[in-house]
Amino acid sequence: MLSQETAAPPSSIKTENVSAAKISLRNVSKTFKSRQGSVLALDNVSMDVAEGEFLCLVGPSGCGKSTILNLIAGLDTATEGEVLMDGEPISAPGRERMVMFQDSALFPWLDVLQNVMFGLRLKPNLTNSEREEVAMFYLNLVGLKKFYRANIHELSGGMKQRVALARSLAPNPRILLMDEPFSALDAMTREQLYGDLQRIFVQRQKTIVFVTHNIREAVCLGDRIILLSPNPGRIASDFRVSLPRPRDINDPELSKTSIPITAALKRHLHKNGLAAEAD
Ligand SMILES: Nc1ncnc2c1ncn2[C@@H]1O[C@H](COP(=O)(O)OP(=O)(O)OP(=O)(O)O)[C@@H](O)[C@H]1O
Ligand SMILES: [Mg+2]
Repeated sequence: MLSQETAAPPSSIKTENVSAAKISLRNVSKTFKSRQGSVLALDNVSMDVAEGEFLCLVGPSGCGKSTILNLIAGLDTATEGEVLMDGEPISAPGRERMVMFQDSALFPWLDVLQNVMFGLRLKPNLTNSEREEVAMFYLNLVGLKKFYRANIHELSGGMKQRVALARSLAPNPRILLMDEPFSALDAMTREQLYGDLQRIFVQRQKTIVFVTHNIREAVCLGDRIILLSPNPGRIASDFRVSLPRPRDINDPELSKTSIPITAALKRHLHKNGLAAEAD
């Protein structure tokens, strides 16, 4: 159920719903300069994300996962190399690439519906009632239709993340960029969202780049898992997961598939003196 690719995969990888490269990083390096000195966050990273692929980025803290996501989002620029979407350089954020962070960052002064409609402000050709219709469609998709008039402070953490997911989906982006979106949630809520996200991935045919520390989460969600190593951030391994969907995080087959990836992660943690993170 798991195969490991030694180098960055060719752009021509094809599986059932996967075609040509949607996103490419070509020899990307990123240096951050601060008063403490400069940090080489990414060192000569090359990878392709195919259209319709669910890619998970895993690795120890500081290995450059969020940096990669921010580059693809157009929120930051590479020091060297190129970040491309459909072969064109990414230079700014765009509505075809929506980002969802760990913290849902909803607007507390807007209700649920208004928060999701806010995601549609980038679609000026829609009338207000069309915006409302689209927002309700996505609230229904994440199981929150009944709560459309609720205030944000009345929602649980999981419900807030669902609203954030609906807000990211509403502009119908081709690409979803998710940075540890479920890490603050309890196990039960997380499991529900794994189901939601897989359903949305299959039904809405998105390309997803998903950052997580959690290998089982990555195996549950990803078609492919890239393991990064820190100091400086580099691609350490590239795994392909071919378990059938929908996947259940508690499936013993999924645990088995996680074992070699966890082992590879632990090797990198030990090599970098981060053994405590591995346990
Ligand atoms: N704005 C910044 N200024 C200076 N250094 C930064 C900045 N952003 C990231 N870094 C550094 O770049 C490296 C990679 O950071 P990044 O946030 O991408 O890691 P990460 O893999 O997402 O970590 P985590 O799992 O903890 O979120 C780290 O050493 C970090 O300290
Ligand atoms: Mg991060």
